[in-house]
Amino acid sequence: MPKTINILGVTGSIGQSAVDVIEANPERFSVNLVTAHTNEKQLNKIAKRINAKKTVLTGRDNLSEALQESVDITLCAIAGMAGLSSMMLAIKHSKAVAIANKEPLVAAGEQVIRAANKYGTKLLPVDSEHNAIFQVFDCDRRAEINKIILTASGGPFRKWSLEQMEKATIEQALAHPNWSMGAKISVDSATMMNKALEIIEAHYLFNIPANQIEVLVHPQSIIHSMVEYIDGSVLAQMGASDMRTPISNVLDWPDRLSTPGYKLDFKTVNDLSFEQADNIRFPALGMAYECLEKGQSACVAFNAANEIAVDSFLEGCIGFLDIMDCVGHILKNINIISLNNIDDIYEYDNNIRAESRVYINEITNRVVLVS
Ligand SMILES: NC(=O)c1ccc[n+]([C@@H]2O[C@H](COP(=O)([O-])OP(=O)(O)OC[C@H]3O[C@@H](n4cnc5c(N)ncnc54)[C@H](OP(=O)(O)O)[C@@H]3O)[C@@H](O)[C@H]2O)c1
Repeated sequence: MPKTINILGVTGSIGQSAVDVIEANPERFSVNLVTAHTNEKQLNKIAKRINAKKTVLTGRDNLSEALQESVDITLCAIAGMAGLSSMMLAIKHSKAVAIANKEPLVAAGEQVIRAANKYGTKLLPVDSEHNAIFQVFDCDRRAEINKIILTASGGPFRKWSLEQMEKATIEQALAHPNWSMGAKISVDSATMMNKALEIIEAHYLFNIPANQIEVLVHPQSIIHSMVEYIDGSVLAQMGASDMRTPISNVLDWPDRLSTPGYKLDFKTVNDLSFEQADNIRFPALGMAYECLEKGQSACVAFNAANEIAVDSFLEGCIGFLDIMDCVGHILKNINIISLNNIDDIYEYDNNIRAESRVYINEITNRVVLVS
């Protein structure tokens, strides 16, 4: 029997890679629902290509009704915190949920994991690093795991000085050396906020404490992450920089699908190098550990301030270094409170967004006064 599948955010970079995988394995999937936010033309085109039964444009239509129908798997590939409510519904109504959309996990990791346990839903990580760990993490022998090592490409500014980064343009920030991705995650990779969000994502997905999560810069993006065991063995997952591989890994899990993605040719790999991340030029990494220590409200604030700051950068209102300046300012001034449910999280998230906008106005006014 083909698996029934929903793809939320089908018009995005992850969504389109998933469409490639489904087109290459048409007998394995029956597409129930595909969604986009505003891009109706593309949504309809894709729906036709993969014979989707239903389409929903979330900028106009209500998605919740369409998500009540039970399916085998839902791929959450919406960008940002906007994907939280659909992810919670998908967990309730799908046998498995494949998570690319990391921001809801960062902000509401506890609630997402609790809901998955309650409904017996399997969570499958799509992010290449977490998918790599998923493939080599022995859940039955967690006591024998020393640490997980998240690899990071270092992004387009890995070797740039702070003076150069201060003048970075939107185009430069979007030009990732190894991966082709949506705008928000590309900017997050340039600030290394993406890796910072992934530290928190890994903490929740693998139920592993912050002091057992390490980040290692690996500019070639061939080793997608590793697990070190207590006997010193290190298990790594490798592959080309192509999201169709982790997507193929999860869509028909535990079976493996043939993927239309690039395959790694070791004869063309001249170098596998590693270096420590620079916490001064990329302060997001240290902030992620600070957030895990402070608790959930700090994680919500971290993500919300970043989403507002990245939008402002992409709109040309603030400079590149102002992104982490804003996130750092918000983190320094937050009230740590306990968040008991999704409504609490939304309320807190909205307040932080408002505070971030106020701070960004201050930054832009400062720039006007100086010039
Ligand atoms: N791209 C990657 O290689 C990659 C790798 C690992 C993890 N991820 C994660 O996967 C998620 C998606 O990334 P992406 O690069 O595929 O993003 P993207 O290319 O920007 O696509 C985002 C998708 O979400 C939809 N969307 C945007 N705003 C929405 C809203 N407010 N409500 C509902 N839907 C909305 C978009 O619809 P429209 O087209 O109509 O705007 C589009 O379908 C992110 O959380 C990212 O961190 C991505």
